Amino acid sequence: MTDKHPSGAPWRNFYGRFKGKGLRKSQERYLDEDLAKLSPGPVDWDVNPERAPLNLDALFGGREVWLEVGFGGGEHLVHQAANNPDIGIIGAEPYINGVAMLLGKVRDAGVDNLRIHPGDARDLFDVLPARSLSKAFLLYPDPWPKTRHHRRRFVTPEHLEPLAEKLKPGAEFRVATDIPDYVRQTLEQVPRHGFEWLAERPADWREPWGDWISTRYEQKALREGRVPHYLTFRRL
Ligand SMILES: C[S@@+](CC[C@H](N)C(=O)[O-])C[C@H]1O[C@@H](n2cnc3c(N)ncnc32)[C@H](O)[C@@H]1O
Repeated sequence: MTDKHPSGAPWRNFYGRFKGKGLRKSQERYLDEDLAKLSPGPVDWDVNPERAPLNLDALFGGREVWLEVGFGGGEHLVHQAANNPDIGIIGAEPYINGVAMLLGKVRDAGVDNLRIHPGDARDLFDVLPARSLSKAFLLYPDPWPKTRHHRRRFVTPEHLEPLAEKLKPGAEFRVATDIPDYVRQTLEQVPRHGFEWLAERPADWREPWGDWISTRYEQKALREGRVPHYLTFRRL
């Protein structure tokens, strides 16, 4: 029994989907032509076994850096990149069909301040410098509704510890979820990792952020009658 992958990577259970149904020809082309150009640098273990930190200043010319974890089809990621040309934004998403959808949107929007890690956010955390991020988004993370699966949720120490380390003091961390028990676990866990919840009145978690764009997952949740919650934290 080993706790390492042959590349040197630690064993990390990943329970999501890497690949779903077939990609369209155009999406395969986007992956071939665009993905390498939009890399944030050497993130994967086989190309960076020493886990040398990424040079974000070289990548984004000294701009503030934001992160979106699990961007799905990428609508929010592209929206933020297009509306904030003075920042750099990195998205992590292991689901390759989602990455392909994002690449189409990047082409349409013509943004150049966005980089993509097509994999697990934990591999990106390894190589992000400490206190390098000014904002992070976790939008509709996988709900894992069964009690025995709650430990797979993103709002667990395995993810929150490195995230907290990579955020600057004062950085904002936004979580959106439609699952009441996910709200409970988020409000319990996130403050334990050096964050304060900024809500003062119910509208603060019932109404979306002023710069919000609804995501695919949120649209599905609304169609199915579930209620979004918008939680805003500040890194202490
Ligand atoms: C329920 S979907 C929501 C997608 C999108 N944010 C939205 O609102 O439409 C959750 C996404 O998180 C991704 N995800 C799960 N674990 C992840 C991890 N460790 N790192 C990065 N993304 C992850 C999944 O692949 C999935 O696409």
